[in-house]
Amino acid sequence: MTTFTGRGHGKLILSGEHAVVYGHPALAVAVDRGAEVSLRRIDGPTRTCAETLCDVRLTEALKAALEPTGWEVSVKSDLPIGRGMGSSAAIAVGLVRAQAAAAGETLDLQTVWERAFAAERAFHGTPSGLDQAVACRGGMLRYLKGPPPIFVDLPCPDQAIVVLDSGEAGDTAQLVAGVRARRPGIDPVLDAIGELVLRVEAALPDPAAVGPLLTENHALLQQIGVSNPMLDGLVQLALDHGAWGAKLAGAGGGGVVIALTAEPESLVEVARAHGVDAFVCQTMPGTTVP
Ligand code: PMV
Repeated sequence: MTTFTGRGHGKLILSGEHAVVYGHPALAVAVDRGAEVSLRRIDGPTRTCAETLCDVRLTEALKAALEPTGWEVSVKSDLPIGRGMGSSAAIAVGLVRAQAAAAGETLDLQTVWERAFAAERAFHGTPSGLDQAVACRGGMLRYLKGPPPIFVDLPCPDQAIVVLDSGEAGDTAQLVAGVRARRPGIDPVLDAIGELVLRVEAALPDPAAVGPLLTENHALLQQIGVSNPMLDGLVQLALDHGAWGAKLAGAGGGGVVIALTAEPESLVEVARAHGVDAFVCQTMPGTTVP
């Protein structure tokens, strides 16, 4: 029986998370991990393929996005859930593309983004749209929240990024709400993050120059209250072992820390020796295929 598939990229935010919600730019890059969603016609009620997803909310969101009967949906993803790597956005984009394939539609990138963004609103409350933008476009992106949102595709350096997993999921909606509650007191820090994003962009593609700016970004994220001792410890671990720089990536409160270093594999080894789940991601050039 015919299966319709669609794929979305995973992402890492290099700079600008949280500030992007308040109109500052953010820089994010797609990585060589992602989610693939498959749809298969069946008789009877729509169901998810049992072994594909352990996240109940995601399973419900997928079923809600489909007709009540006639589909089996399955997901293959190598993105950790709730770690700031854009797992739900990649799945939303994969689903939009799989549905379009099933309907014989050809969608442009803007339409893929719009549909995936609508699905993510149900999931995350008030997302900026950044995750969906990278999930559908790939590559390196400067993003400015709308309306209308502005996407600027930047040259995507071929870069290894070390990901250090805190082992805990951060609740994006709750963290965004926490930041909102601390405004306007923290607005100068959000402004400083916005300025830093432009310095990071100017430093691309020299990772040795970008690194210290990431560490600076982490300090600002600490000031807006989204880091925690575990994440600070992972940043320090990376710096103690020769990284050019490191920061939490995503909403914080858990999730991952990213590090730029000349020796990615040896940092991964060190992290694992400390009991930290770590891996290397490679940046992914942008897609021109809708
Ligand atoms: O979903 P996460 O953890 O990658 O965080 C998204 C980044 C935020 O700026 C915190 C929220 C948003 O919608 O942009």
